[in-house]
Amino acid sequence: MNMKKLPLSELIEEIIETHHKFLREELPSLLDLLEKVITQEGSNFPKLHDLKKVFVAFFIDVNAHLTREENILFPLIFRAHTQKLTAHVAQLRNLIAIMEEEHDKIDQEIDQMREIYLSLSSAPSSLQGLIKRFVALEEDMRQHTHKENEILFPKALTF
Ligand SMILES: [Fe+2]
Ligand SMILES: [Fe+2]
Repeated sequence: MNMKKLPLSELIEEIIETHHKFLREELPSLLDLLEKVITQEGSNFPKLHDLKKVFVAFFIDVNAHLTREENILFPLIFRAHTQKLTAHVAQLRNLIAIMEEEHDKIDQEIDQMREIYLSLSSAPSSLQGLIKRFVALEEDMRQHTHKENEILFPKALTF
């Protein structure tokens, strides 16, 4: 599928269906797993507590970010493209700049989590399932941010 050729509405739907839905299911489920692993292995691997601290901050930031995109950004993209008012275009530029800053913060949290889970990669099999889930989350987040920063946002700002 060539994402760049999709109309804005289909691109937004694809992002919500693929990435926002994944995150809303995966984040609570991964937190449960992390807490379970900490109960079993937290005393042997104290870094798991650091991982939880960063993950909880990431979880809160991502949740707020998804809600802002779905409730404010995506409707504004539709309004700006149907009405093409100068005020909407200016508002859209500002909002997209804020979303890009939020992506940077989320990326930094991903980097911090990666540094911790990579330091655990020689850990026993009881931790490997958890690490795989973090790797998959990171890959999904990378694709998600790429679609928004490189495809959706430039397209949304093209009139
Ligand atoms: Fe998103
Ligand atoms: Fe985003």
